[in-house]
Amino acid sequence: MILVAFLLLIVFTEVTSCKKVCSYQDVLDHLNLTTDNSVFKLTRPILDYTHPTVVQLDIFLYAILAVIEKTQTFIPFLWATMIWSNERISWDPAQFCGISHISIPRDMLWRPDLFLYEMIEKDDSPLNPYMYVSHDGMITSEEDMKVVSTCKMDVHKFPFDTQRCNITIGSAIHYIDEIRLLPSSNSSRATQFSREVMKTQGEWEFLQLSVTSSNFTFHNRQWEQLIYTFTIRRRPLLHVINFLLPILFFLSLDLASFFIADHRGEKLGFKVTVLLAISVLLLILNDILPAMSNKTPLIATYCIVIFALMLLSLLETILVTYLMEKDAASQEKLRLKGEREDKQEKVKMDNCNREKERQTCCSCVCKIPDGEKQHELLPVAEEVNDGIQSGEPHLLLLILEQLKELQKTLNLYLGCREEGGKFVQWATRINNTFFMFYVTTVSLFLPLIFMEWNS
Ligand SMILES: *[C@@H]1O[C@H](CO)[C@@H](O)[C@H](O)[C@H]1NC(C)=O
Ligand SMILES: *[C@@H]1O[C@H](CO)[C@@H](O)[C@H](O)[C@H]1NC(C)=O
Repeated sequence: MILVAFLLLIVFTEVTSCKKVCSYQDVLDHLNLTTDNSVFKLTRPILDYTHPTVVQLDIFLYAILAVIEKTQTFIPFLWATMIWSNERISWDPAQFCGISHISIPRDMLWRPDLFLYEMIEKDDSPLNPYMYVSHDGMITSEEDMKVVSTCKMDVHKFPFDTQRCNITIGSAIHYIDEIRLLPSSNSSRATQFSREVMKTQGEWEFLQLSVTSSNFTFHNRQWEQLIYTFTIRRRPLLHVINFLLPILFFLSLDLASFFIADHRGEKLGFKVTVLLAISVLLLILNDILPAMSNKTPLIATYCIVIFALMLLSLLETILVTYLMEKDAASQEKLRLKGEREDKQEKVKMDNCNREKERQTCCSCVCKIPDGEKQHELLPVAEEVNDGIQSGEPHLLLLILEQLKELQKTLNLYLGCREEGGKFVQWATRINNTFFMFYVTTVSLFLPLIFMEWNS
């Protein structure tokens, strides 16, 4: 008997539970929510108009798509969640088999008219077509947005810079007494969550996302705004490898070129080549940096100072080469002069020899054999010894002539040395002084600018 009653009870409960079938449409019918029911769309969904609609907002950073310094554009990919209440909507989940929320197309209900102040381009990423409606009237809407926003960047410390870009969210027309904005996560939670969901960061490292609330007043009317500040730091490695190091290499090449022995402007050619290479790198820089900037970017100072140093060293090399050339030219002139004199002397000598044959040129009696035309000193010296011993006077005469010639050559050589040496000395002095200046400037400038970059 008890068993039968128990079985009947089971069957009865099963039948009743089977009978209760609910669909989402039942909820919609209960709410009278249809696509052409304008009650839900036209006005702000409050029953008492003095109540403000509170919108809880959350924004997380999904990815940093691009940061363009030249146009001062910051393009993040954001994930935004909005929650607000609709006082016209409520149902009892117990009546609808426990349905506590339904999803409906987003244009069936009134939505807060939030917009991003910094957005400069319309977002063309696909919209999420649905939003959630909960039984207590809370509406949840989620959106992924690619935001092309303008951001005032400070490139003073490029490429070791940290940028802070703001994205301000507010209602387009509703005043503060109609729409209130509340951040549902505080700054640390937003930062934490953004780190968790972050997909790509690229060149930039995400540091922090902070939220502040502010009131924007205009003509005695006030709007509430939420300001999300993204702090990002550039990863400088690429720019260091691409730009800073090559310039340092060229600088050290330029320094090293002081040790090139100068032969007919080789050094000059080398320096000009290095300078040209630097100017190509400067063109790259021009592509990266924006034209407007309050402070001169340190990297520009870095380039200009190094460029100026190299230019100075090029000018100095031109000067030194000029002095050397001048020296060489005067030496050449002297040599030519010397040769001409030599030739005249030879002519005289030849005359003399010819006359000697007639024994009228020289004051003494010469009986030089025609084969006796030795010009080398050593054999002559031997002959001198012999001559002195044997007392032959014509040999002494020969020595005299040789000595005269020697003296002439020596004079010529010394003269050259004296005149040309002045320029060479100048050139060497200028070269040494400039090298000292160069090395000192570089060794002062580089630590200074790297310190400034680091600060
Ligand atoms: C539902 O809305 C329609 C208008 O769209 C209206 O005519 C109708 O009376 C409403 N029904 C109820 C039960 O409120
Ligand atoms: C903005 O105005 C509201 C209402 O007057 C006030 O509660 C809130 O503290 C203000 N916020 C700021 C940041 O001043």
